[in-house]
Amino acid sequence: MKHHVKDLKLSKAGKSRIEWAEMDMPVLRRIKEQFKKKKPLKGTKIAACLHVTTETANLMITLKAGGADVTLCASNPLSTQDDVAASLVKDFGISTYAIKGESNKVYYEHLNAALDAKPHITMDDGADLVSILHSKRKKDAANIIGSTEETTTGVIRLKSLAGQGLLKFPVIAVNDAATKHFFDNRYGTGQSTLDGIIRATNRLIAGAVFVVSGYGWCGRGLAMRAKGMGADVIVVEVDPIKALEAVMDGFRVMPIAEAAKLGDMFCTVTGNINVIRKEHFRVMKSGAIVSNSGHFNVELGLDGLRKITKKKREVRPYVIEHTMTNNKRIYVLAEGRLVNLACAEGHPASVMDMSFANQALSATFLVSKAKKLKNEVYKVPENIDREIARVKLMSHGVKIDKLTKEQEVYLASWEMGT
Ligand code: ADE
Repeated sequence: MKHHVKDLKLSKAGKSRIEWAEMDMPVLRRIKEQFKKKKPLKGTKIAACLHVTTETANLMITLKAGGADVTLCASNPLSTQDDVAASLVKDFGISTYAIKGESNKVYYEHLNAALDAKPHITMDDGADLVSILHSKRKKDAANIIGSTEETTTGVIRLKSLAGQGLLKFPVIAVNDAATKHFFDNRYGTGQSTLDGIIRATNRLIAGAVFVVSGYGWCGRGLAMRAKGMGADVIVVEVDPIKALEAVMDGFRVMPIAEAAKLGDMFCTVTGNINVIRKEHFRVMKSGAIVSNSGHFNVELGLDGLRKITKKKREVRPYVIEHTMTNNKRIYVLAEGRLVNLACAEGHPASVMDMSFANQALSATFLVSKAKKLKNEVYKVPENIDREIARVKLMSHGVKIDKLTKEQEVYLASWEMGT
């Protein structure tokens, strides 16, 4: 079986960690059991471009249990867990292309290797496979029945493609499922981003001025958790409604030019480009720690920082000290790549459980319904979304009420007033 991983000898540790994650993924476990019996993905080739973590491994194993022929490549050069990649190849027979720290060239070689498997479905986290299928490998798009997309940034790219009438196959926006973004983006990013910053720096969050750029679901989660650990949180936003929400959630809100002078720690989660620029780095306090938890490494204007840096050195793994021309020192984590996956292990299994349950069930939806779908971006069907929430609640041992017949009638009527 074809693969490119760091070292197959790492597989033992990887397998044990994959099993550890599985224990906290009850919804996906249940889907795996159903898949084993019904094989809804029999004969389907899936190419997945996802962060190669213990949680992703469990998704790949589930898809394989459903009868799919799976190839996996990394969706970020720094997010791969090498022991997991080794175990996927050695213990689970899944063709994997991923090495932590791979160059951009190798990153794209891996994406192309996944597409060489001639998939029927692609599963993206950031729309890189779909992007190649719409540019360099247009011919291979003919084989695709549909695709799924894991993240906000990817969905934005795909909606832009669909908006221009260029999308060549239907896509399911897994990110937009309620059981994905309300939980993964908020609680997952909130916890794993702080985990990454803490593992990289071992700095105390309590008492630090923590600047969060972006108040989408990821920013909300990060601000909430940083506050919970005792940080003095400042939110930076461009959207007046989100900014107002941040104010009413109790945060200081101000432009980045002002926040730059006050922050001890900065983290971008906007999905946009050059959010912190040269002029902002220049006015930061010496010792400021700067990171990004948005999908692409474009949020920090590192080219600008380089222009005002006179000396650079690695002071700890994934921590680069930039001594600027004004002699102040700035610390950039993980080269501006996703700090939660580069410096820690990404979101915990319990929250990826729901995200990846959406992925697995969306793949079966594509297999059964692709012929009826147009080349558009679709939501995850609501029945799938609600079922995932129901099973997750069940796994927590939480019961909820049902509407009474009278309440159902009331909600469906307009006649009854005061
Ligand atoms: N994205 C964020 N956290 C992740 C994880 N643990 N596995 C896969 N993708 C992720």
